[in-house]
Amino acid sequence: MFSVINEAKKNMNLPDKVAIFDTTLRDGEQTPGVALTVENKIAIARQLDKLGVDIIEAGFPISSKGERDAVSKIAGEGLESHVCGLSRVLTPDIDACLDCGVDLVHTFVSTSDIQIKHTIKKGKEEVKNMAVDAVTYIKDHGIKCLFSAMDATRTETGYLLEIFRAVEDAGADIINIPDTVGVMMPQAMRDLTSEVFDSVRIPIDVHCHNDFGLAVANSLAAVEAGAREVQCTINGLGERAGNADLEEVVMSLTSIYGVETDINTRYLYETSKLVERLTGIRVMPNFPIVGENAFSHESGIHTHGVLEDANTFEPGVMTPEMVGHKRRIVSGKHAGTHGIRAMLEEMGFEIKKDQLMEVTRRVKDLGDKGKVVTEMDLKAIAETVVGQVSEDKTVIDLKEYAVMTGNNMVPTASVRLRFKDLDTDKDREIMGAETGVGPVDAALNAIRSVVKGIEDIRVTEYHLEAITGGSDALADVIIKLEDSRGNLVTARAAREDIVTASVEAMIQGINRIFLIREK
Ligand code: KIV
Ligand code: ZN
Repeated sequence: MFSVINEAKKNMNLPDKVAIFDTTLRDGEQTPGVALTVENKIAIARQLDKLGVDIIEAGFPISSKGERDAVSKIAGEGLESHVCGLSRVLTPDIDACLDCGVDLVHTFVSTSDIQIKHTIKKGKEEVKNMAVDAVTYIKDHGIKCLFSAMDATRTETGYLLEIFRAVEDAGADIINIPDTVGVMMPQAMRDLTSEVFDSVRIPIDVHCHNDFGLAVANSLAAVEAGAREVQCTINGLGERAGNADLEEVVMSLTSIYGVETDINTRYLYETSKLVERLTGIRVMPNFPIVGENAFSHESGIHTHGVLEDANTFEPGVMTPEMVGHKRRIVSGKHAGTHGIRAMLEEMGFEIKKDQLMEVTRRVKDLGDKGKVVTEMDLKAIAETVVGQVSEDKTVIDLKEYAVMTGNNMVPTASVRLRFKDLDTDKDREIMGAETGVGPVDAALNAIRSVVKGIEDIRVTEYHLEAITGGSDALADVIIKLEDSRGNLVTARAAREDIVTASVEAMIQGINRIFLIREK
């Protein structure tokens, strides 16, 4: 690791290991629009167990019958991870958790003035007593207890420490500092955690929300100051802007801080994908670690560097393999020939220099038009370019074509071609027009009729595929042609415009037929 980082670490109260408390199935399920079935919750719990989280907060049992059912079933799965249920500091809530057979009860109460005034509507002393009673009740049942002072970061510090000491004395196993509305800044989180660290002997857990995008930074700041457990969610799900993202917390601890967790990081990507699928909340492509672009390189300078040594434009201390992801070289307007050649070689193309230049030109052209060039697009472009008859061998070339179509007219096309007379080796122009059932048919009929004087060419098959979605998708046309002697050729072209792709494929096919006949 670099010396600036090593220097900074000297001033931190870092442990060797941090426990990961996953709340995807509780706070994560509070993401607006997310409602998981019992089966989905079980599937996610199994995956979290495979991932190696220390604690799975399976739900809030008092909130519904379905929730109790899910928490009971997850608790009965025999997972390695400890299963936790959430409760207010109320006996019925705690009983609901106990009935589910959880390993740990996470009990919470608001401690900030604003929340006490508007939600609990009781005196501060009474709130403290309720917290103590709840912890005592849980411990009397021989169960582990985590206590959270909700809205801790907006709580008067003296009162917060008082309540933490009181629940510690009542037997709480661990206390949590929630940044419930995500208003902390890393230095403030460090200061508060240090103060709590100096006031209690039990371990400290943190729970940070992401309202200002600081949830991960604040969680890590708490670890720097003595927190030994971090609450987080897969894909950063959670109430409002979500919670600290598990993938980011774990990889930062592992790869930058050098602090261990029990997470098997190779399952991070597949876990993210499962949660994405079951919750329906899409992960942004530029999301760190598990986003589709997290290890993708597009610009010529970057792809060139990465192909030499991936560490040039990647963190190095974190590789795609470490998190079960893949490195991708993608093409777009910033693409360079190095990257495109590497991608094409991987696809099995043997490409000449002039063909590579032409593919690159077409890719950049599409990129300039704002199009994302997918692997499928690139393959289609390369197949078109590689399959082209080289210019000096072409018998006909397209000079221009035009098509007219509409709801009250017969589609009509005109074409102008350059034709090289093979007997005299002289070029001449040929042109003509035709109608058809649609613009493509009209254009192909026009070419056929113009060429008819030289050779009668039939279109025996026509296949069109839109490679990527949207009305500006790249159209991949494959066409099969037959001449009067029964010679059959296939030609292909990919363009954004269906008619242009069809015309190019047809011209290419005709040139191939002439090439065969010359032999
Ligand atoms: O954000 C919060 O304060 C919570 C508590 C239940 C810990 O989710
Ligand atoms: Zn929360």
